Amino acid sequence: MSPIMLHLLLIISLFIPSHTLTNHQPTSESFISILISQNGLNFVKDLLITKEISSLTPLQLPKIEKSARIPFVGNVDIVLSNITIYQINVTSSIVKTGETGVAIIASGTTCNLSMNWHYSYRTWLLVPIEISDSGHASVEVEGMDVGLTLGLENQRGSLKLSILECGCYVKDVSIMLDGGVSWLYQGVVDAFEGQIGFAVENAITQKLKEGVPKLDSFLQSLPKGISVDDIASLNVTFVNDPSLSNFSIGFEVNGLFTEKGKDAVLNSNQQSFQALVSCTNSSKMLGISLDDTVFNSASALYFNAEFMRWIVDKVPDQSLLNTAGWRFIVPQLYKKYPNDDMNLNITLSSPPVIRMSPHTIDATVYADLIIDVLEAGDVIPVACISLVISASGSVNILRNNLAGSMKLDEFTMSLKWSKIGNLRMYLIQPVMWTVIETVILPYANSHLGKGFPLPIIHGFTLQNAEIICSNARITVCSDVAFAEDFIQPLIYPTTKRCASDLLYRL
Ligand SMILES: *[C@@H]1O[C@H](CO)[C@@H](O)[C@H](O)[C@H]1NC(C)=O
Ligand SMILES: *[C@@H]1O[C@H](CO)[C@@H](O)[C@H](O)[C@H]1NC(C)=O
Ligand SMILES: *[C@@H]1O[C@H](CO)[C@@H](O)[C@H](O)[C@H]1NC(C)=O
Ligand SMILES: *[C@@H]1O[C@H](CO)[C@@H](O)[C@H](O)[C@H]1NC(C)=O
Ligand SMILES: *[C@@H]1O[C@H](CO)[C@@H](O)[C@H](O)[C@H]1NC(C)=O
Ligand SMILES: *[C@@H]1O[C@H](CO)[C@@H](O)[C@H](O)[C@H]1NC(C)=O
Ligand SMILES: *[C@@H]1O[C@H](CO)[C@@H](O)[C@H](O)[C@H]1NC(C)=O
Repeated sequence: MSPIMLHLLLIISLFIPSHTLTNHQPTSESFISILISQNGLNFVKDLLITKEISSLTPLQLPKIEKSARIPFVGNVDIVLSNITIYQINVTSSIVKTGETGVAIIASGTTCNLSMNWHYSYRTWLLVPIEISDSGHASVEVEGMDVGLTLGLENQRGSLKLSILECGCYVKDVSIMLDGGVSWLYQGVVDAFEGQIGFAVENAITQKLKEGVPKLDSFLQSLPKGISVDDIASLNVTFVNDPSLSNFSIGFEVNGLFTEKGKDAVLNSNQQSFQALVSCTNSSKMLGISLDDTVFNSASALYFNAEFMRWIVDKVPDQSLLNTAGWRFIVPQLYKKYPNDDMNLNITLSSPPVIRMSPHTIDATVYADLIIDVLEAGDVIPVACISLVISASGSVNILRNNLAGSMKLDEFTMSLKWSKIGNLRMYLIQPVMWTVIETVILPYANSHLGKGFPLPIIHGFTLQNAEIICSNARITVCSDVAFAEDFIQPLIYPTTKRCASDLLYRL
């Protein structure tokens, strides 16, 4: 096979629909989609080639034995042993996506081999005598093309990587013997060139075929949930098959927050999210698009986990938590409970609603605030105020987390019930403002500030990330870098522990 044929075969095979991949599952719900652009694919390819190639060497080839007929000498038995490829250099490589998979082709590859040679033959000088000699040889293989076409599909929520085609073609082999006699040189070159080339082709093809299952088991071992905190994890189960286009690969993951240790929550009434990642800067390696359903699933989860209720007994202005501080605001409270400490029991009455638009991210928070008086060890609820707080937010990237912060736009309040008569709301308003600004928002921001992890394989970090807000979604467009320390285990997870430990850890 010629190198050009190899290229064609690999690339053409990308466009022949294979039966496994056309067997599409029904489209399921996904709320985060990830797009790896051509630049991102190149980055991953270079990473794989650099590491995969260096892990190939030293590569031992099987011994080659042959009887060669050498003019004027006769039949000579030649053995090449300890054939070792000790260096492989890749001159150029490309990665190309097609409908059915991804092809990686390394061309103009050279490799250096070392080997031992040994020959023997019988000659007649009155009696038969055996003549033999041995030595060392170095071989250079040039113009080698190596190609691999990989299929990628969704198998029960994980990515399954398989080999569609794999080939290696050697153009030129040049052999240098140290020592030996001149006829031997020609004999070895004539008799072994082809066989050495063939052995190299076989060995490399074999090695690649062994490497892909390792990469596959790495992908399959990617966890289906990323831990966010003690309560929540992000469901990163792959949904649908990867969508392969000419210059990118798209993935969809479920993307909803789920409560740790709880079974799946059915989100059957969710509107379907259209997988669409559009980065204004198409040279970014990666785009991650999050539907606002993701944020609202977080909101619902923390609400249901009763995370959104708390007792405020410390405020920056502590006089606000004593009835004396309310003497002029609610005189009847002070009259009934003079100089008693108070606390505020804040409960969200429904999950905060988050809305994205090209210019803003808005959140509406519905809360009930119960004023408790603490008297002689008793907690006496005296009034309840309903608040509707409108806040606007901004998001930022903190390492691989999408973090955010909120600021107060406005709030409205109404008296829900009272055991101390009517309250003059306009007098209470500044107090509520202080509580929202100094207690509720800082509390929310301390959580939002940490953010939650984006679905990125551990070891990779976002670089020069850009955030694009649009209707009902946020898109993060970014380059990635790879921490060198993680490379070895990424490609060759030696044990199960290693693979699962490595991934998605904060
Ligand atoms: C086989 O080749 C390797 C690499 O060139 C070398 O280190 C080793 O000593 C050789 N072994 C023998 C028995 O010649
Ligand atoms: C091959 O690669 C090695 C290490 O990556 C480098 O030291 C060497 O110079 C390269 N050789 C050629 C001929 O490019
Ligand atoms: C590999 O072989 C080429 C050609 O013989 C030579 O120039 C190069 O130095 C060799 N590389 C090593 C590391 O021996
Ligand atoms: C993708 O590439 C194939 C083969 O090169 C071509 O036939 C097809 O039109 C391309 N599709 C797009 C969307 O560019
Ligand atoms: C995670 O998402 C997958 C795919 O949508 C779904 O089948 C699974 O039930 C979800 N798991 C949880 C714990 O919600
Ligand atoms: C697009 O992104 C690349 C890589 O992050 C960067 O080098 C380039 O300056 C960006 N271009 C624009 C117009 O922002
Ligand atoms: C806070 O108020 C809720 C009702 O809104 C009540 O169920 C809960 O027991 C109160 N918590 C405390 C500690 O008083």
